[in-house]
Amino acid sequence: MSSTESNVIDLTWYGHATWRLRSGEKSIWIDPFLNDNPSCPIKSAEVEGCDAILLTHGHFDHVADAAELANRFGATLVANYEIVQWFSANHKVANGIGMNIGGRTTVAGISVKMVPAIHSSSLPDGSYGGLAGGFVVAVGQKTIYTAGDTCVFSDMSRLATQIDLAILPIGDLFTMGPEDSLEAIRLLQPRTVVPSHYNTWPPIAQDTDKWAQDVRLHTPSHPIVPIIGSPFSF
Ligand code: NI
Ligand code: MN
Repeated sequence: MSSTESNVIDLTWYGHATWRLRSGEKSIWIDPFLNDNPSCPIKSAEVEGCDAILLTHGHFDHVADAAELANRFGATLVANYEIVQWFSANHKVANGIGMNIGGRTTVAGISVKMVPAIHSSSLPDGSYGGLAGGFVVAVGQKTIYTAGDTCVFSDMSRLATQIDLAILPIGDLFTMGPEDSLEAIRLLQPRTVVPSHYNTWPPIAQDTDKWAQDVRLHTPSHPIVPIIGSPFSF
């Protein structure tokens, strides 16, 4: 593998809030929801690599396939303390980093800070899932903010000094919708922004052509609307 290949950083959307971040030879999955995700083109058995899993909160549409991937690959599960304990007790996940809002850790060669989100976080069996969060990830020279499920909140302007890429929910109903995402983008000022958590089911259907046009018109950021399953660089 050449040095350029081993330095590659890219991101792939797998539908809903499921993302794969690749950094060199490492694969980091965010909120893996594959098998029962109507937008996802692959099943969890087809996942070829997983070094770490970041979970923003305990809801099924974010954690559904985390145990299978963690156990098959021996991947490290990064989430709030309550969620990591639950996966250890209920799914025998051996490697976990339980953290909480404001904390930072290093996993699979990337730095991960857990930041606030305004949302709920019960686990699939109803167990208490701690507080919902988002992550500020530093990978190579790039900073990524993945918001998780949240509404817009004014402290977004203080989450990081420079964000290269922001992943924001736009589906509405359970999270901020497209209009509020414009305010989030103005607060965050990311260089590039991608939408998430939409079009999985009819209640969160959104028009991303209109969203991207509004981002270009009303914010300083560059929108990318990823194609499901196609890696992109940023
Ligand atoms: Ni949720
Ligand atoms: Mn959700």
